[in-house]
Amino acid sequence: MINQIVLKALNEQFEKEFYSSNLYLSMAAYFSANSLNGFANWMRIQAKEEMDHAMLIFDYILQRGGEVIVPKINEPEHKWDSILEVITATYKHEQFVTESIHNLYSLATEHKDFATCNFLQWFIKEQVEEEENTSELEARVKLCDNNKSYIFLIDTELKSRVYTPVSINQI
Ligand code: FEO
Repeated sequence: MINQIVLKALNEQFEKEFYSSNLYLSMAAYFSANSLNGFANWMRIQAKEEMDHAMLIFDYILQRGGEVIVPKINEPEHKWDSILEVITATYKHEQFVTESIHNLYSLATEHKDFATCNFLQWFIKEQVEEEENTSELEARVKLCDNNKSYIFLIDTELKSRVYTPVSINQI
């Protein structure tokens, strides 16, 4: 039987991953509306990945015999003034998620829930990658210094990002 305090925190993380998916979908819509289809593609895939993260937690809670609470999701931001503002918000959001995962890991450790610690190892590794990708993208957009030709090159490159699904049996 899963510890009820850890279960509550897992359900809260489930909500945060859902929110992340909606936030990135909102960013994808912003980029599409501004004819930046590469950036939009990158965000669409990011949104799908976040939904996968949510579903990993969903499946894990069920595996442990816990109750999944499907949450109401707050409306994400949908207005930004520049590409850089969106990408900086993405990097900051990933840092927020990393902190949340680390807190969850600490809580699981405190309650000697070693199975949850083991489950969260994948997320800890994933967050290293998420922060690296978003901080690198932020740095590259900053380097463009609003030069439209350079932005066009990045946008073209981001069109090639492909979605790789992940499920509970793979982690
Ligand atoms: Fe699920 Fe990008 O954190």
